[in-house]
Amino acid sequence: MDYIKQRLIEVGRPQAELVRDLIKNHGDMVIQDVSIEQVLSGMKGVVSLLTCTSKLDPQEGIRFRGYSIPELRDKLPKMKKDGEPLPEGLFYLMLLGELPSKDDVVFIGKQWSERSQGIPRHVFDVINALPLDAHPMIQFNTAILAMSTQSHFRKAYMSGMDKKDYWDPMYEGVMDLISRLPIIAAYIYRRVFHKGKYIDSDPSLDWAGNLAHMMGFDSEEVKRLLRLYMVIHADHEGGNVSAHATHLVGSALSNPYYSFSAGMNGLAGPLHGMANQEVIMWINDMLKELGTDDPTEDQIRQYTIDTLKAGRVVPGYGHAVLRKTDPRFTVQLDFGNKYLPDSNLVKVVNKIFNVVPEILENTGKVKNPWPNVDAISGALLSSVGIREYPVYTMLFGVSRALGVLTQLIWDRIYGLPIERPKSQNLDWFLNKTGMKK
Ligand SMILES: CC(C)(COP(=O)(O)OP(=O)(O)OC[C@H]1O[C@@H](n2cnc3c(N)ncnc32)[C@H](O)[C@@H]1OP(=O)(O)O)[C@@H](O)C(=O)NCCC(=O)NCCS
Repeated sequence: MDYIKQRLIEVGRPQAELVRDLIKNHGDMVIQDVSIEQVLSGMKGVVSLLTCTSKLDPQEGIRFRGYSIPELRDKLPKMKKDGEPLPEGLFYLMLLGELPSKDDVVFIGKQWSERSQGIPRHVFDVINALPLDAHPMIQFNTAILAMSTQSHFRKAYMSGMDKKDYWDPMYEGVMDLISRLPIIAAYIYRRVFHKGKYIDSDPSLDWAGNLAHMMGFDSEEVKRLLRLYMVIHADHEGGNVSAHATHLVGSALSNPYYSFSAGMNGLAGPLHGMANQEVIMWINDMLKELGTDDPTEDQIRQYTIDTLKAGRVVPGYGHAVLRKTDPRFTVQLDFGNKYLPDSNLVKVVNKIFNVVPEILENTGKVKNPWPNVDAISGALLSSVGIREYPVYTMLFGVSRALGVLTQLIWDRIYGLPIERPKSQNLDWFLNKTGMKK
């Protein structure tokens, strides 16, 4: 057994014990009242999940195992002193709850590099069977499901493994899956947008750097951006659609491929991960309609008002939990202003940021008028040359694997049971309130 798994046992066993004790000794403690509005508005604020990898504060934003994004940029190992943190290090932190050393990051990177070589041929055949105009998320998700033929977890389960050991094959499957996603994503990108001219993986590169390389980008600029992108999109607590869907399906002891695929189906929704594609389309449509690459703030204001009048949302703005500017937006804006000061798209994003919050605030109904992670990510990708916006959500998915799959390992360590909330029909709600039909 390698030292990471050994460490996971040391860290995990006492915590699993605590969870059992919590249920045994305090299981009947009432922790929260739940209102009808909460139930009928997407369960916002209802504490109903145990997630240790990250925590989202409405005012401050995300912290990964206690560390904010600026702290991660400072403390996680990097390729170069002035570079961006490596996703390998964030994975280690989320998995074990402690900061990795450079050696830990090298170890994880080597593991992923070795495991990435085992993708079965049929996975590429299945992708190739899809039409070229199938959205990359369809191709990505199909490939994830096709890889489940290799599930360690399923094999271990069928062999009658003791359930307290389920975390082990789950860990193996998660490591395989994460290692292979860059190859799958780059394959789909090259298949759809570069006439199927594929580029071999370079095992000497880091996980995100290799993704850039296989997509056809060898500049330090793109690698640097993808490292940051992969870190900031990795996790957002347990209740967001992709994390919750992964957890829910995993609670039926579905293998990591089935579970992650469920999460990716959720990520493909325009209110969740697909918003990054929506944003860039919204900006492009605006520039086209206005007939300029350099719109004034008044023009953007009018276009935003027209979008709302048409009954559409302004993509990239608002959030189900956050009530301030998303720090994932801020760090990308800093990145854009520092490394891509001449990018016209970054300039437009800055102008949008100057006008949209006030307009959304004035609607009187939008709870959070501030930008989220998606308001700028596409502008940065496009500015470094990744202009094919249908792949943006897939790149988000590659990153999101780090968080939601780590959560899945911990679900198995904690021994969490099948999830099964109660539902009621409309009559029940009417009776409860005394309302008549
Ligand atoms: C993220 C989002 C889905 C959160 O939804 P939510 O928690 O229901 O948000 P709210 O409670 O603030 O919604 C209240 C109202 O404001 C609207 N609203 C919220 N954000 C809006 C936006 N960016 N543009 C226009 N209207 C918005 C909602 O559609 C809702 O309208 P309704 O009462 O007519 O149905 C929502 O803000 C949104 O659609 N944003 C745009 C898509 C996006 O960027 N998604 C990525 C999120 S990381």
